[in-house]
Amino acid sequence: MHPNAVLAVVLVGNLMLPFITAQNEPKINASGPIILSADSYGTPVTLLCNLTTAHTPHKESFWMKNGQEISNTRTEHRNTSYRINKPRADDSGEYKCVYTFDYAPNANATIEVKAKPHITGHKRSENKNEGENAMLYCKSVGYPHPTWTWHIVDGTSYKDIDNSTGRFFITNRDNYTELNIINLERENDPGKYECNATNVIGTTVEITILRVRSNLAPLWPFLGVLAEIIILVVIIVVYEKRKRPDDIIDDDEPVGPMKTNSTNNHKDKNIRQRNTK
Ligand SMILES: *[C@@H]1O[C@H](CO)[C@@H](O)[C@H](O)[C@H]1NC(C)=O
Ligand SMILES: *[C@@H]1O[C@H](CO)[C@@H](O)[C@H](O)[C@H]1NC(C)=O
Ligand SMILES: *[C@@H]1O[C@H](CO)[C@@H](O)[C@H](O)[C@H]1NC(C)=O
Ligand SMILES: *[C@@H]1O[C@H](CO)[C@@H](O)[C@H](O)[C@H]1NC(C)=O
Ligand SMILES: *[C@@H]1O[C@H](CO)[C@@H](O)[C@H](O)[C@H]1NC(C)=O
Ligand SMILES: *[C@@H]1O[C@H](CO)[C@@H](O)[C@H](O)[C@H]1NC(C)=O
Ligand SMILES: *[C@@H]1O[C@H](CO)[C@@H](O)[C@H](O)[C@H]1NC(C)=O
Repeated sequence: MHPNAVLAVVLVGNLMLPFITAQNEPKINASGPIILSADSYGTPVTLLCNLTTAHTPHKESFWMKNGQEISNTRTEHRNTSYRINKPRADDSGEYKCVYTFDYAPNANATIEVKAKPHITGHKRSENKNEGENAMLYCKSVGYPHPTWTWHIVDGTSYKDIDNSTGRFFITNRDNYTELNIINLERENDPGKYECNATNVIGTTVEITILRVRSNLAPLWPFLGVLAEIIILVVIIVVYEKRKRPDDIIDDDEPVGPMKTNSTNNHKDKNIRQRNTK
């Protein structure tokens, strides 16, 4: 046989296989994707599936959300529905109706329920000392999972994070983002850090205020006391110096004429010593 003929047979065989199996595969008629919006929150939503064709009678069906079976949804009917009574952002996700068969693999259909991300956790503020590390995070509900970005809000404008010092690290998971800043700098790092969760439906942001204290901050109460002591000492010294000329005049007048400062001081010392005795 010509090698090309062999290739053609193989190709036809491969093309025929999915075509044949597709004919026998069960078909599920499922309701379309749903978008939850702030307006529709609270309005019940119903997801529908109907097994329209099947190679053999099915056994039962159940519903799944994000890969987990939803309890109490098993039924034996061809058509099955799942009702979300008061939908909220965290009811969004990937729903599946699954039909089981005795001697064939499960069949399923997917219904996407989408919603704008809703940030369910973040820090309002982070207070650290310079040289320490800061950890900021945001977590969300809302399907599809958001794309995360971080910005710095400066008044009404947005800045990208300047990572020229290589101290900023961002870790993103499906519904979680973490911003780590190491070796904090008091001059550059304080500010309003905004996490931005964006999916096809919309955007949500939250702000964390980062404060960076000087390393001297814990010393401030002590420095305050020290300053008070210094001021007190200065006041006493100044007061003593002002007082002295009067003392000298009072004590020296009867003794005799004015003398030089140095001898005055010397006398003053003697007088004081006498007085303390
Ligand atoms: C699927 O169901 C919808 C309404 O439930 C109906 O309009 C449509 O014709 C159905 N499609 C098939 C292939 O059965
Ligand atoms: C489900 O599909 C079957 C077979 O196509 C059809 O007879 C039946 O009316 C459908 N039920 C609903 C609720 O769409
Ligand atoms: C299934 O379809 C029948 C009519 O075909 C309807 O009476 C019944 O309520 C449906 N059940 C569900 C769970 O949608
Ligand atoms: C859904 O069907 C796909 C094939 O269409 C299969 O790969 C998958 O495992 C099924 N999932 C479940 C949960 O049955
Ligand atoms: C976030 O996603 C993980 C898996 O991707 C899931 O286990 C967890 O429940 C989710 N958390 C929220 C709040 O949606
Ligand atoms: C910042 O720079 C460091 C070092 O170059 C790098 O490892 C890190 O991924 C960067 N962070 C961001 C958010 O780009
Ligand atoms: C959030 O990020 C998206 C995508 O980058 C952008 O379109 C949107 O303007 C940002 N929102 C805010 C409030 O920064």
